[in-house]
Formats: sequence, structure tokens, C-alpha cells
Amino acid sequence: MAKLTIDDQEYEFPDGTSLFEACREARGEALPHFCYHPDLPVAGVCRLCQVEVEGMPKLTIACNTTVRDGMVVHTRSEKVNKAVQQILELHLINHPVDCPICDQAGECGLQNQYMQYGLYESKVEIQAKVKKHKAKVIGPYVILDMERCVLCSRCVRFCNEVTGTGELGIFNRGDRAEVDVAPGVELDNNYSMNTVDICPVGALTSRDFRFAKRVWMLKSAQGVCPGCATGCNVRIDHEAGRIYRLKPRYNPEVNGRWMCDRGRMTYKQVHSERRLLTPLDGGKDVTWAAAREQLARMLEGKPPALAVVSPHASLEEMFLAVKLAGAEATVSGPANLDREDGDDLLLDADRTPNRRGLATLGIPELQSGALADRLRAASGPVLVLGGDPARDEAVAGAMEGREGLIFVGDHDGPTAQAAQLVLPAAVWAEKAGVFVNRMGRWQGFQQAVARPGAVRDGWRILAEMLSLTGAAPAFESLRAVRRGLTAKVLPEGELDMDRMPEFGFMPAGGER
Ligand code: SF4
Ligand code: SF4
Ligand code: FES
Repeated sequence: MAKLTIDDQEYEFPDGTSLFEACREARGEALPHFCYHPDLPVAGVCRLCQVEVEGMPKLTIACNTTVRDGMVVHTRSEKVNKAVQQILELHLINHPVDCPICDQAGECGLQNQYMQYGLYESKVEIQAKVKKHKAKVIGPYVILDMERCVLCSRCVRFCNEVTGTGELGIFNRGDRAEVDVAPGVELDNNYSMNTVDICPVGALTSRDFRFAKRVWMLKSAQGVCPGCATGCNVRIDHEAGRIYRLKPRYNPEVNGRWMCDRGRMTYKQVHSERRLLTPLDGGKDVTWAAAREQLARMLEGKPPALAVVSPHASLEEMFLAVKLAGAEATVSGPANLDREDGDDLLLDADRTPNRRGLATLGIPELQSGALADRLRAASGPVLVLGGDPARDEAVAGAMEGREGLIFVGDHDGPTAQAAQLVLPAAVWAEKAGVFVNRMGRWQGFQQAVARPGAVRDGWRILAEMLSLTGAAPAFESLRAVRRGLTAKVLPEGELDMDRMPEFGFMPAGGER
């Protein structure tokens, strides 16, 4: 351990701790910086994180220094503040100051640091600034403004060290230096939009989010990406019922600070034109009251003969499906659906968020032929919960012309077309729930936006079905569902699902 003094207070940090991180902890906020990033190798190029270390002849950069026993460090002295101001002025010499039309405005390291440390009169006329390429499309999701770049090299290091794809580099020298893709190369790796997140200024921005919304208008909710079995933690940025973007939310056990581009685009499903917005009886829009009457007629007070549960459903919904149909009559499938290529970083070949939840509740997954056989053999109504299993040919064949098919789902497709009764249910961003990721980690997500049209929360639809079959107990709240669920699969008192731990919950022996 190293004992040191930072801004007149004594601290102790493990040997090898970066002085930058030690100062962050001591000050309660990071030192000014552009190039430092906790998940990238140190570059030490922006020179902003200057601190004064007693006994050293000059100021030093904290990001490239480790703590030493007996160090006395000053981070707010006049000398430090002056140096930071001068370096910032240097960074801004050629900056176009086009903040009003910059998507980064409101969350820009340059703006924030200028307000905190800069506040000087510029000595450079706008006309005298070096002009560079603006609005250059460099990949399917990313656009580059070279004039705004402060050459921190974070994006270059990300492509070299995290994805190993090396598309970006810094070319030329002096005030002509600029970041760019190599000739003939596109920034099109699976994780390209992380460069937008880590770019401290508005040099790399998202083509998808470009000019869509001023960031200070956005509200945020905590979500879990539904795009694959990894379950990256995300922040859902939304306003007035519309989601504008997903950003990675730090979880050291799952995704660190990254997420893939495909996952970021999953929010588009929420506002898709294919959403089911009203109950449908025989393909015709009906009210919930009429749908309930039809449901009662179809069930005749009995549980469905079979429940087919999707790995896209939440754990709570899966639990209620088992309660409703019974363990013997609850299956999932076809097991071959929603599987594509994965990669070595985060993206899993299993493109469903809760397949591990099926195993948690003992719901078997059937191959398409076996599922088609079960559908044909079921005598009585069949519940299909979520997903779209009729995208599989054999399953579609078994559903075709079948009476008594009840679909609790969110998007129109072959299953909705085959169903006698369609009950429109919320998607992940419109409800609270839990997904179990591929490692067995239970991760909670919040409702971000209101449910559109006559869409209802899935657990409520299933609880109502349960009450129609007379099966006790009735579930009056999501909390009650969760209590029933944990009592079934976890030792008593191990988890309160309404208070999920920040980085999720891993039951003993959960990892595979
Ligand atoms: S584009 Fe952004 S992340 Fe890349 S070097 Fe420039 S300022 Fe840094
Ligand atoms: S890796 Fe999977 S969970 Fe993570 S962002 Fe991509 S699709 Fe979503
Ligand atoms: S943050 Fe230390 S030199 Fe850039």
C-alpha cells in the first residue's frame, strides 16, 4: 500500500494504482482530461491531467504516473489551474466552436472543461483557424468532423486494442494532424459506435442519433439489451414516449463499458410499424372487454392444453406461463430460431435475452419437429407467449388452421396471423422484468416508455388468464409474481427481485 497526500488529505491506495484514479477518488471528480480512459492503454497525449507533485521540478501528468509512498500531490493549485487553462486554449485553437449544431453539446468534455477551467478570451480569429473535413461518413453508424477532434487517440486505441480491427489512425503532423480511416477502409466493426461514446468531443457522432434530439431533453431508464444472450446493461434515453438511443451502462461482470452496434439498434423494434396495438379476435380489432369474454369462452375455466414460451419473454412471464399451463404442458421452441453468428467480444450467437431463464424454470426447449408434434397433439387451447415461433416452417404448418390458438405477443408475423385470439403485450422497454443472461446472471430492467395503444403488461395478461382458470393464487402485483417466482427457484431470502443488486444477481453455481 502507498500512503500519500492529495490536496492536504491523507489517503492510502494499493501499490500500482494510477495517480489519475487516486485523484478521482480523493477529489470526488476526475481531473480534467481528454485522452485517459480506464479501459484503454494510457496515451498521455492531451496533457490536461497535470498535477503538482512536491519534489518534482515540473508539473506531471497523473494518467501516466502511479502512486508512491510519501507523495504529496496538489491538484487545484494556481500553477495547475494555469497549466490546464493554457493546454485547453491550445486544444481549442482550431476548434470550430460550432456547438449549437453539434450533437455532443450538453455532454461534451470540451464544453465542460472550458466552463470549469478555461473561460479565457480566445486570441485566434475564427477566420484564421485551420479548416478540415466536416461531416465525413466513415462507417454505417459513425460520422466524423475532423475540425472538432482534439486528437486524444481514444478512438484509435479502441479499434487497436478492444476490437483489434485497427480502422482508424492519426495522419499528418502538427496542426494538419487529423484522425481518419485508412484509405479504402470503413469503420464497420461490430462495436463501431463505442467510438462515439468515448470521443470526448463532437468529432465522432452517431449517424442514427444525428440531429434527432438535444441531449438535455432526454430522460434515462436502466435497461438490459434484448439483442442477445449476453445481456449488456444499457441506458435507455427517451423523451415523450420515444426512445432515441441506447448507451452502454457499466457492468464489470457483463459488458464493462461497451455494447455492440446491433444491440444499440434494438430500440427500433419498440416503435416498429409491425407492433400489435389492439387485441384481435379472428383478425379483427376488439376491445379488451370483448377479448376477455372470448378468452373465457376459449379456456372454459381450464388451463391451456399447451403453453409455448419464448426466450424473449421475461422471467416473471415465464413463471406465470408455467403456473397457468403446468410444468408438463409448458415448453419452448423451436430451439433453432434466433441463432446467428456471434463474435469473441460480447455478441452471442444466441440472439435471445432470456434462454437461460427457460432453464432456470425447467422449461424444456424443443426442436421444430417435436414442437410441431406437441402442437398437433394438444387437445384444447394453446397459449403462445412472445417471440414468433411460426417463423419456423414445421411449426407454421402445425399452427395453420388450428383452433384455439392464443398469442400473447408484441409484433405481427406468422404466429399472430395464425392465432385465433391476439393479446398485445409490452416489449422490454415498456415493462419491468428480469432476464437471465447466458452466464446465469439475473438482471433487472426498468420500464422506460409508456405502452402504446391498448398494449398491456405481459404479467397482467397472464395473471388475468390464471384468474379465468380459477387457479389460485391470484397475482395482484408484479411484486407478488416475483415473490412466487423466487420461492419456487431460490432458497428463501436469497433475493428480493424488487431490489436487484447493481450488477445483477448470480445464484450459487449460476455460471456455465
Ligand atoms: S475523433 Fe474523438 S476520440 Fe478520436 S482522436 Fe479525435 S477527439 Fe479523440
Ligand atoms: S452483445 Fe448482445 S446484449 Fe450486448 S449489446 Fe450486443 S446484442 Fe445487446
Ligand atoms: S488525460 Fe493525462 S495526458 Fe490526457
